[in-house]
Amino acid sequence: MGLYNFDDSISRENSACVKYDSRKAIFGNPEVIPMWVADMDIPTPSFILEAIKKRCEHPFLGYTFRDDDYNRAIVNWYGQRHGWVIQPCWLDFCPGVVSGLNHVIRAFSKPGDRIIIQPPVYHPFYSTVESNGRVLVLNPLIETNGNYSINYDELEMLAHDGAAMLILSSPHNPVGRVWTKDELSRLGAICAKYNIIVVSDEIHSDLVYAPHKHIPIASISEAFAQNTVTFGSASKTFNIAGLTSGFVIIPNEQLLKRYKQELEASGAGMGNIFGNEALKAAFSSQGNRWLAELLDYFYGNILLVDETLRQRLPRIRFVQPQGTYLLWLDFRDFGFDEAALNGKLIIDAGLGFNAGSGFGKEGVGFQRMNIACPRTTVQLALNRLVATFGTSR
Ligand SMILES: Cc1ncc(COP(=O)(O)O)c(C=O)c1O
Repeated sequence: MGLYNFDDSISRENSACVKYDSRKAIFGNPEVIPMWVADMDIPTPSFILEAIKKRCEHPFLGYTFRDDDYNRAIVNWYGQRHGWVIQPCWLDFCPGVVSGLNHVIRAFSKPGDRIIIQPPVYHPFYSTVESNGRVLVLNPLIETNGNYSINYDELEMLAHDGAAMLILSSPHNPVGRVWTKDELSRLGAICAKYNIIVVSDEIHSDLVYAPHKHIPIASISEAFAQNTVTFGSASKTFNIAGLTSGFVIIPNEQLLKRYKQELEASGAGMGNIFGNEALKAAFSSQGNRWLAELLDYFYGNILLVDETLRQRLPRIRFVQPQGTYLLWLDFRDFGFDEAALNGKLIIDAGLGFNAGSGFGKEGVGFQRMNIACPRTTVQLALNRLVATFGTSR
């Protein structure tokens, strides 16, 4: 018997909740089951809420800094969960990982520089590069029967032509890959050879299903550590994205100095008092226990989708993710164009997924489904999928 219950369905409507209260704006249908943005319908654990309430007992919410306990919580978490011994002096803040990506792009490249990404991939990887006037260079993943891998030959050619950095999604959103040490070593070696900084977005690193194991690319060798900027956050894992707090790990002194300058220039370095308290409560032994149960629960949700689709709707192809709570469903067998597929899902089935094209043209025909919710919600969504697509020719 677990300590935690993830089955309760708690209404999030009318709480200025992006996932629920933006449905009309996003889908044109305010009634869809929202299974899109990467935010969980599992409440933030009570030990985090308590830590925030406790801080409120002190009637001053003035300027604060991140104290030694905060740094120690990250150091311990990384050491224990990911086997990477980091130094507190390598750490700095980011007001969310997307904001951090903007900072590193400005800190480590100049307008017109080339930046490599690997589609289909998290859409802000495109927008942060483009909105900063840098040039996007695409190194699409190779897809074979739903399994994704890195195209190293192409990466080597692109790297040879020069690039300031490569932004890596590790684990990968949306395809759910947890990159192996071998894969990361090959990628890291190419980037090191051509002086391309690896910016590793590891926001999903704690959401990994056994036997897969997250490996921070910077932990592989000292050379990689010196060439990598790693982003992390407690926000996905513990459902605290609204606290807009993340962190960056930069072992290279020069790179860290430039990052700090950029953060200071943007005036965004102060952070968030509740974000600090939440992280300390999250990256703890309690957090570890809660997360173990959460991952078991999500894996149960994934199995439910897998079994249902295989038995009742095999035309929707799906490979179990190795990490993340995001499922990458392949609807290409139906032959619908994107508008027709979206219409079927949103209007006929009443489901709010992320359209695959949002992750790049490689995502056309796919949809991203977020299963970070009570199992009853997953079951309801599956019933609607079967009712709608079971009859499609
Ligand atoms: C790969 C990846 N990076 C970053 C983010 C967003 O991070 P933040 O809310 O800290 O900006 C997400 C959210 O879905 C994500 O999937």
